[in-house]
Amino acid sequence: MQITIIGTGYVGIVAAVCLAKLGHNVTAMDRESVIQSLQSNKAHVWEPGLQELLTECNEEGNLHFDADMASATANADALLIAVGTPTRADGHTDLSQIENVLEQLKQSGNCPPLVIVKSTVPVGTCDELEANLHGAGLRADVVFNPEFLRQGSAINDFMYPDRIVFGCQSRHSEIMLRQIYQGIDAPIQVCDRRSAELIKYASNTFLAMKISFANMMADLCEGYGADIRQVMKGVGTDRRIGPHFLQAGVGYGGSCFSKDLQSLLTSGKVIGRSLPLLEATAQINDQRIPQLVVKLISLWENPNGKRLGVLGISFKPNTNDVRDAPFLTLLKLCQHHRIDVHAYDPVVQQVAFEGVTVADSPYEMAAHSDAIILMTEWPQFVELDWVRMVQLMRQSILLDGRNVLSDEVVAQLMELDGVTYVPVGRPVEQSVEQRVY
Ligand code: UDX
Repeated sequence: MQITIIGTGYVGIVAAVCLAKLGHNVTAMDRESVIQSLQSNKAHVWEPGLQELLTECNEEGNLHFDADMASATANADALLIAVGTPTRADGHTDLSQIENVLEQLKQSGNCPPLVIVKSTVPVGTCDELEANLHGAGLRADVVFNPEFLRQGSAINDFMYPDRIVFGCQSRHSEIMLRQIYQGIDAPIQVCDRRSAELIKYASNTFLAMKISFANMMADLCEGYGADIRQVMKGVGTDRRIGPHFLQAGVGYGGSCFSKDLQSLLTSGKVIGRSLPLLEATAQINDQRIPQLVVKLISLWENPNGKRLGVLGISFKPNTNDVRDAPFLTLLKLCQHHRIDVHAYDPVVQQVAFEGVTVADSPYEMAAHSDAIILMTEWPQFVELDWVRMVQLMRQSILLDGRNVLSDEVVAQLMELDGVTYVPVGRPVEQSVEQRVY
């Protein structure tokens, strides 16, 4: 099939290379600068496996790039919209990028018969888009086909999803969608558009709620001297609950959870419904970093001028995305307390915010620091020579924001003088001999 994809962010570019890999003829459309980068075979987002697949598709010749709507859609059987739908300050979803696509379609006077919306949109949006296109004389079926891929494992998630959801109103569009996804082995759920739109929000907010639940329990564990890892293991082995997204830590970040949660709260307000579970989810998450900073400061006599090493800048491992990263909240609070922040991240080499020095290695970051906070669970952080890290520090305080250091490593560190290990949802561990500063 001939498919045109508008928007080459995480979802758009991953869909483009994966659908090309499945054998479709794909044209991806975006701004000129992005298109130029992709044409010269350079992936503009960092995602494991993406560059390799992009090179392969470029060599095969069934992936093309275009910055012009009329030529990009000229012979397309389907148009897939994957542009951004950020949340505005008032909590409503900003649909301007989708509206812009519609305007361009109307101006070109040409619209493929199937319009697939992959951008996350509030319930009812696809109905409005279809009415809008029909009103302009463009006879297209609008379907909603949510994307559930995670950054850091996006290609794998696209190719091997748990399920595929088609929110469509006609048998014809369902048949076309099935053709597009032929080759992917996953259960397909066909439902009405409004339900499909809500499935996406309900999935993301449910996952966020699981994380906040684990974080709430972690606070309780700290108060009672229990171990959150054991508690969540015992809870998650119940198949009705499942083990995933119960990892307590510094709170969820990224471009989706907070945005979708706010957007769903607003959708509730619009029809006069409050959604208290979601309000609590957001509140718990908002408190994670401030609580961590309070813990840190309580370990120092005076935070002013202390040096903090931060391991991990992106919102999760295997991505260079810093949108809504807990690191940014930490940085702001550190600036407020005049704490000098030195950070290290395997892929984020610079940060567009003041008040942070990005180090070239974790050891350089650790040198002369008065504490280290581990923010993201990159596998290479677990493998560090932690004895060396601690020996480089001025004051050996480790806050393990993701509970990733093994019990063996922690036991080894406790053999040294003056080490304080502060995990999440577990008792603090200190070496017998504490240095006095
Ligand atoms: C999420 C959804 O998982 C995905 O289905 C949707 O398409 C987009 O939003 P993503 O934001 O890429 O994906 O990352 P995800 O792996 O879900 O993690 C989100 C945040 O939650 C990260 O900050 C992560 O560190 C945090 N998290 C995740 C936890 O704190 N604990 C957990 O147990 C799991």
